[in-house]
Amino acid sequence: MTLFRDPAHYSENSIVQKSEANYLIDKSGIDFASKRLLDVGSGDGKVSDLMSNMGAEVTGIDISESMINFSTKKYPSCHFVQGDAQDLSKHQNSYHIVTSFNCLHWVSEIEKALYGIKAILEKDGIFLGLIYPRSVGLWDAADWCEALPEYRVSSKSFVNPYCFHTKLDIEMMLTRVGFTNIKIWEEERQAVFQTKEDFKEYVMGWLPHYHHYGQNFIKHWFNKYIELTNQITQTEIIMAYKTIFFITS
Ligand SMILES: C[S@@+](CC[C@H](N)C(=O)[O-])C[C@H]1O[C@@H](n2cnc3c(N)ncnc32)[C@H](O)[C@@H]1O
Repeated sequence: MTLFRDPAHYSENSIVQKSEANYLIDKSGIDFASKRLLDVGSGDGKVSDLMSNMGAEVTGIDISESMINFSTKKYPSCHFVQGDAQDLSKHQNSYHIVTSFNCLHWVSEIEKALYGIKAILEKDGIFLGLIYPRSVGLWDAADWCEALPEYRVSSKSFVNPYCFHTKLDIEMMLTRVGFTNIKIWEEERQAVFQTKEDFKEYVMGWLPHYHHYGQNFIKHWFNKYIELTNQITQTEIIMAYKTIFFITS
């Protein structure tokens, strides 16, 4: 399944992803100046660009050709290459810092990706990033829609590419691939969307069901989501979710 087909739409509707990445970058206190940095799953490139503006020499890698074309045009201070996070061994360079924001839950062989990341890091290099565990509400609404009679046929060929990991899963994998200094934690978060349309656009930017099931899916999904989260009469929508952050070397 091709994900993230529309970089311009993602770029305009990813305030949550951006603020989570900014939060971790700020909290890490890392000095990015003159560091060789690989950003895995760089997407539209805005977070890569932020780190470039902090002085890092940034290479972004992403599996999506359209994301690479978009980020290359928009952020010329970074270098972007198309590639698979599961195949970083092909990469010849080594890095002081590897980052991966909002990406590794899309990588089916995540441990292979983590091995590759450890291998391309310099000794004492730092790996930091974030992923989201299963969020009640968002995914429950999607599961409910999959079982609707009108989607029964489409559901037969749908495989959700999102991989759900817990903090403990990630911690164990980081340990297995050889990281020793692991700081990992989970935070409860909330994002507020001023309008229902803003929220739907945000969800359409990443929910894999949207492309498979067609445009009506988001309407069914949204109605179920606001019912499950008791927001039927609200104008603004509050999305509760959790984020797993890690900083490791
Ligand atoms: C939600 S976007 C995150 C983009 C950016 N890092 C951010 O925080 O806004 C996830 C990105 O991961 C990329 N991706 C998914 N699987 C990948 C893989 N196996 N290797 C490299 N990139 C991958 C997608 O193409 C997409 O651009």
